[in-house]
Amino acid sequence: MTLMPQPRHAAPRSPISGPALPVGLAVTAVGILLSIAAAPVATSAQKEPTLPEPVVVAEVPEVQVGATTAADPCSEPAVLEAIAVADDAAIIAGFGGGASFQAAVVAGNAPCISLDDPAHVWVVVNKARPLNPVDFAPASLVDIPLQMTTRSGQARADAAAAVGQMAAAAVAEGAGEIGANNGYRSYDLQVSTHASHVRNSGQAEADAASARAGHSEHQTGLAMDVVACSPSCGEIGAFGATPQGAWVAENAWEYGFIVRYEDVGSGITGYKPEPWHLRYLGPELAAAYHHGGFHTLEEFFGLPAAPDYAH
Ligand code: DAL
Ligand code: ZN
Repeated sequence: MTLMPQPRHAAPRSPISGPALPVGLAVTAVGILLSIAAAPVATSAQKEPTLPEPVVVAEVPEVQVGATTAADPCSEPAVLEAIAVADDAAIIAGFGGGASFQAAVVAGNAPCISLDDPAHVWVVVNKARPLNPVDFAPASLVDIPLQMTTRSGQARADAAAAVGQMAAAAVAEGAGEIGANNGYRSYDLQVSTHASHVRNSGQAEADAASARAGHSEHQTGLAMDVVACSPSCGEIGAFGATPQGAWVAENAWEYGFIVRYEDVGSGITGYKPEPWHLRYLGPELAAAYHHGGFHTLEEFFGLPAAPDYAH
């Protein structure tokens, strides 16, 4: 892992505002009424004393614990320790949680965090931000624990485990079975995938639906295309109109995923909506994204829109 200092990120240009500033620790004192009835005095005639009635009325103070942001989060011992072992969740926790992490990155107060590093859950890959190196491959991949409709059935271990949990929850909540069409795609596979789109529908349509090689989130091992599998697995294009598609749109964030290419984000991402394309951010960042009302990763991290390739 390499975590190099990098230039500070630009301030957000998004019309969609980010989450509120960290609120710190706020304790709302609520009155506590404690009333204890006096015990009757026992007499020698009374062998068994009468216990006082339990008349205790207490209201527990409401404690609101919000994110806190260190003045220099990259110098926090917890962050430094987590960076040393490349523990993404611990790094985010060291920043004070997902919202604080995002706020620090957007404010340019996180020089130890590189949004260019494809080994981390916060990497941003788009038409203006190719993977670095362009032929990056994840250090390790595991099988996605879902029914697959192609042979591209691997992902990073954390993302694979999370999608398994998500799919189990979808079944438990009555939304139906979820399978997957594609997980990790190598640089070479993306070359042929994109070329196939160009052959079938021309360059412009291809670029609105498929990333050019070196520009796909699938190459990070953090993206998956999911499908509905009740009673049998359908196509990715049908997913958005299925009960599973509706369930995923509402609940995927709880399992660490965002729907990366939403209709409202097309002007920023340059892709048509893909309700099936899930990007793993981890639960802390996905929760901050969801609660902040974001619709693109570019807006979340205060990056410029990237609807087109430079050339
Ligand atoms: N379909 C998405 C944009 C990709 O090819 O990565
Ligand atoms: Zn995809």
